[in-house]
Amino acid sequence: MNEGLNKKILITGGAGFIGSHVVRLFVTKYPSYQIVNLDALTYAGNLENLKDIESAPNYTFVKGDITDGTFINELFKKYNFDGVIHLAAESHVDRSIEDPLAFVKTNVIGTMNLLNAAKDIWKNDYERKRFYHVSTDEVYGTLGESGLFTETTSYDPNSPYSASKASSDHFVRAYGETYGLPYVISNCSNNYGPNHFPEKLIPLFINNIIQKKSLPVYGDGNYTRDWLYVIDHARAIDLVFHRGGNHETYNIGGFNEWKNIDLVKTLCKLMDEKLDRKSGSSEELITYVKDRPGHDLRYAIDASKINKELGWKPSVTFEEGLAKTIDWYLENTAWLAQVTSGAYQDYYEKQYDVS
Ligand code: NAD
Ligand code: TYD
Repeated sequence: MNEGLNKKILITGGAGFIGSHVVRLFVTKYPSYQIVNLDALTYAGNLENLKDIESAPNYTFVKGDITDGTFINELFKKYNFDGVIHLAAESHVDRSIEDPLAFVKTNVIGTMNLLNAAKDIWKNDYERKRFYHVSTDEVYGTLGESGLFTETTSYDPNSPYSASKASSDHFVRAYGETYGLPYVISNCSNNYGPNHFPEKLIPLFINNIIQKKSLPVYGDGNYTRDWLYVIDHARAIDLVFHRGGNHETYNIGGFNEWKNIDLVKTLCKLMDEKLDRKSGSSEELITYVKDRPGHDLRYAIDASKINKELGWKPSVTFEEGLAKTIDWYLENTAWLAQVTSGAYQDYYEKQYDVS
């Protein structure tokens, strides 16, 4: 998948959090590529995320659902894509606990539809073709207090979300082995940054601090995640898509582990400064709530393969990334108001038992 040639690339889930940053990077960095963004615009997809590039000549948006196999086949016939970067997914662990089947439909069946369409349209002529499946470190299950996930760590998913992503990863590998489909997979740690839907930890807590609402920390807060700034993930996806080895997997992570409670306290301190509030006032909003069932204790990525083979490393420190993220939410109150209206309130009240 060398750079420089004219290419037609399908990016799925491009109106979501990570997908929108990937679409922007590809549309602006590769003007000779035609980028087709396919997204069903679920609660998590938002075309406002791409306002700045929506009229670029090399960009097309298609509203559609990857669970509809007939539609996907037609789309592949129409565009004859050279490459696919597949990000569309149901992505929230808490929602997967409430409705696991929705995750099977989009994450497993949807991925299967894309694999079948790619296999059929490419018809064994795989020269300069590539199917890139974007996955998560959650497929590896949980770590104890020490150790890191490597590319050879066994899959051991614990939530319906991670089980559905693990299943889709296996199908991608199987299509590589069985049909010779050229693929690459990456498994990334927790992302944060602009355009993150405010039901995941960091944007939810930023929004709640702005509104002086309680900060619901699950369990004792001693769960660890490895945080990566979303634009660094998009940079990694660009590298893996163009230079990653065929049938290879790359782990992507921030070398940046935080216990939830320490992260939340740091966020509170930064927000007090940014909002010019009394020191310690946001911390008073912390409330310990019922734990998530099957809550994975710790995720942490060994990203040495992508670092050594492709020269990737994060470009911003966590302090810089978090400050940029907070500034973005404070400057984009209209975006925040739009995505937290309507169905968001229903979800919030149900999830956090607000009375
Ligand atoms: P997101 O929920 O913000 O966005 C998902 C996008 O997919 C939305 O725009 C949504 O409308 C679209 N979509 C959902 N179902 C669809 C369907 N049936 N057909 C077409 N489009 C559909 O998710 P995200 O956080 O941007 O994650 C993107 C990908 O990266 C996912 O595959 C996820 O598993 C993976 N990932 C996420 C993280 C993270 O921290 N957010 C970390 C590692 C990997
Ligand atoms: P989340 O952002 O949902 O990502 P993931 O579950 O994919 O890692 O959650 C990050 C961590 O924060 C996870 O340990 C669960 C915890 N958490 C809370 O403590 N309270 C919350 O309200 C949410 C959404 C998450």
